[in-house]
Amino acid sequence: MMAARKTDFEPPVTVALTGASGAQYGLRLIDRLVAANHEVWVMISKAAHLVIDTETETRLPAQPRRLTEALIERCGAHAGQVRCFAREDWMAPVASGSGAPSSMVICPCSTGTLSAVATGASNNLIERAADVALKERRQLILVPREAPLSAIHLEHMLALTRMGAVILPAAPGFYHKPQSIDDMIDFIVARILNQLGVKHALLPRWGESE
Ligand SMILES: Cc1cc2nc3c(=O)[nH]c(=O)nc-3n(C[C@H](O)[C@H](O)[C@H](O)COP(=O)(O)O)c2cc1C
Repeated sequence: MMAARKTDFEPPVTVALTGASGAQYGLRLIDRLVAANHEVWVMISKAAHLVIDTETETRLPAQPRRLTEALIERCGAHAGQVRCFAREDWMAPVASGSGAPSSMVICPCSTGTLSAVATGASNNLIERAADVALKERRQLILVPREAPLSAIHLEHMLALTRMGAVILPAAPGFYHKPQSIDDMIDFIVARILNQLGVKHALLPRWGESE
């Protein structure tokens, strides 16, 4: 007899990886959301695939069905727990307020995508999903990484903050004395999970002992 398909997941969270440095933050975030039994809806931009290839040992296919299978295997997810959408899949649930999850994270977030979201460009599904999150007043977290920042970047970050989005820079602290790159990645992922209200054991919260 075939095993029953698991359906009692926590609500879906949309996670988009774009082409800023720090692909590992996004991959780890997907992994931890899966571990917390959330459904995760994933979009990975073309530039993000290039960054993943450059920065990590992970090789992910671009085609959504194969990408879904690869992420399910990578994270040890259940069938149906991870769903991936193509760049111009306008029929995907994230493209509409009636289908989109209540939370979306763009991690890492390129300055290009940051600007597109701030100005409502909606030229691809990631930008459209973020536009939907803004218009529906849902939770939108952007994790930009760039240095230094131009006036364009800063103005767009301020505009997005005023629209209710959270700018959570990929700028790990050092007060927890990281021993590895994984510790620095977890520093940022823990903050994203805190924003999402997802329980985790990556780092103790400030004021809690280890
Ligand atoms: C290896 C690599 C690292 C990059 N790092 C950054 C970065 O840290 N921040 C950034 O905003 N763009 C960075 N870029 C440039 C973006 O990928 C580029 O602007 C791209 O058009 C973004 O497209 P997307 O927003 O659709 O992913 C990087 C590109 C590559 C190939």
